[in-house]
Amino acid sequence: MVKRVGILTSGGDCPGLNATIRAISKSLYRLFKNKIEIVGILDGYHGLIHGKYRTITEKDFADILTLGGTILGTKRTPFKLMQVVEEDNIDKVSEMKKNYNKMKLDCLFCLGGNGTHKTANLLSEEGLNIIALPKTIDNDIWGTDISFGFHTAVDIATDSIDRAHTTAKSHKRIIVIELMGNKSGWLTLYSGISGGADVILIPENPYDINNILSHLNKRFKNGKNYSIIVVAEGAYSISEAKIKKKKRMELRKELGEKTATNIIAKEIEKLTGFETRTIVPGHIQRGGSPSAYDRILATQFGSYAATLAKNEQFGLAVAMVNNKITSNRLSDVAGKAKLITLDCPMITTAKQMGICLG
Ligand code: F6P
Repeated sequence: MVKRVGILTSGGDCPGLNATIRAISKSLYRLFKNKIEIVGILDGYHGLIHGKYRTITEKDFADILTLGGTILGTKRTPFKLMQVVEEDNIDKVSEMKKNYNKMKLDCLFCLGGNGTHKTANLLSEEGLNIIALPKTIDNDIWGTDISFGFHTAVDIATDSIDRAHTTAKSHKRIIVIELMGNKSGWLTLYSGISGGADVILIPENPYDINNILSHLNKRFKNGKNYSIIVVAEGAYSISEAKIKKKKRMELRKELGEKTATNIIAKEIEKLTGFETRTIVPGHIQRGGSPSAYDRILATQFGSYAATLAKNEQFGLAVAMVNNKITSNRLSDVAGKAKLITLDCPMITTAKQMGICLG
């Protein structure tokens, strides 16, 4: 019988975390007829390792549906360090187990992205009762069509692209906009399409600068003397694709660049004479209130997760598949990522819109 549960939010924050915490908590109170205690673990797995937590009561989740960020705080605790005993001599896995038991938890909800799911699976394999929920603006969690936070980020990025459009047109410029997404370009692909970008560059498809130049020149010949390029922060060129990531980052460092954005802008200006500008909306893409879509999704996910706890179904990752809320085994999700494949329908759509994909 589940009597006391914990909730933690781990990894990069995103809109919808609070809406999910609220949905889990409200549903639990109803499903257990108020005979349930909820503990909020502070700052993700870091809090679980160090025993930082506080009891959550109804007043904690009043008015948080629309609130950005996470009331519990979050921290990146990389999975690869989870099983490493560092200088502080702390065995993180055994501390997490110890604190789970000390807090007398019967179940722990872990809200996060790929790294969070990996650690959640590790804890599940260690015998803890875990339910994970998919959060990330990157939308790259395996086994779910969508993660909460993604659509809000698409809305924010689209707004940036729209605003870039008008100024690019007035000044007859090429504007290169860098969007978040290190390993996967879902956010860039979706917002590029919704913002009417002319070029979309994603990590899954290394770009050839010559293809970009000829696309821009073609537009220019057709009387379009401005263009919008959206580039995912993890995008790289076909020549960079031939070298290892470590070497690639070293070469970028020599150029004083972490991402391809400025490199692309400078090459365009040098090789075409078009005036270029770059925009990096950065963490604004993860900030603020969740969209209506994400509020609904977070509420559905949270309510479903509470039902799993009521039914004592653990070791699971909540997901949406074909518009239906469901769950996958955590062991199936952990260690995988949902990357864009070049034959996916959204890529076909982009191509049919005449968008250059590099
Ligand atoms: O995972 C979400 C994300 O926003 C990525 O798109 C981005 O690469 C990363 O987090 C940024 O991380 P941080 O918030 O640690 O700078």
